[in-house]
Amino acid sequence: QRDVISIPVVVHVLWNKPEQNISDEQIASQMIVLNQDFRKQNPDISQVPPVWEDTAEDADIEFHLATVDPEGLPTTGITRTHTSKEQFSAFEDDVKTSATGGIDAWPSDQYLNIWVCALSYGLLGYAQFPGGPAHTDGVVVTYKAFGTTGTAEAPFNLGRTLTHEVGHWLDLRHIWGDDGMEPGTECTGTDHVDDTPNQDGPNFGTPSFPQISCNNGPDGDMFMNFMDYVNDSAMVMFTDEQVERMHACLQGPRSSFLS
Ligand code: ARG
Ligand code: ZN
Ligand code: CA
Repeated sequence: QRDVISIPVVVHVLWNKPEQNISDEQIASQMIVLNQDFRKQNPDISQVPPVWEDTAEDADIEFHLATVDPEGLPTTGITRTHTSKEQFSAFEDDVKTSATGGIDAWPSDQYLNIWVCALSYGLLGYAQFPGGPAHTDGVVVTYKAFGTTGTAEAPFNLGRTLTHEVGHWLDLRHIWGDDGMEPGTECTGTDHVDDTPNQDGPNFGTPSFPQISCNNGPDGDMFMNFMDYVNDSAMVMFTDEQVERMHACLQGPRSSFLS
């Protein structure tokens, strides 16, 4: 059987307006959700339709705020930095560099770096897949979709943006395979996971079961998966093979996190 892997986290809070300097309590509320979701302890797991109850899996991955900083000194696992930038852009990735108004990553082979800031274009968050440059490795989430209290705004106030982004950080793709951008490519993409049904595009909001696409009836899309685009209240599970893919990542490109 697989060991439970525990990953040290640093949350970098970048704030321009005082309300963006989110509280320790808001960060704690996010850590609770992240750990529940990755241990299949989220109370809303009961929303999984009976047909996928056996496919929904405990990911055996836990996250804790770092207690030791890169210099070996005690830390809360939270950094707070005032910035003159009113918003950060995913394209420029400028939140990850002190010289551009953000703050530099802690060594990304030892910490999961999470930057929380105001993101432009209403973006909820974004992530870097394994294998990319170390100094930009980690995930970014807007302060409006982080945790379950404070500045978190419905319908993205249940902490699922971070769950989704950490899924990407551990090599998960969107459940629909990111196809359909070009006409005629619908249903041709893959998330490289066999126990998620082939699905056309993203689902949004709070769909009702079943949602059929790509001839995937009668059960249809697994829209209640963390790697779809539904509201926070509607995403509740990872699958067995998604979990295997995340652990393959932890045995491979992210093996520095194995103790
Ligand atoms: N748009 C983001 C991404 O593709 C995150 C979507 C998160 N969805 C949510 N219900 N919180 O990475
Ligand atoms: Zn995504
Ligand atoms: Ca699939």
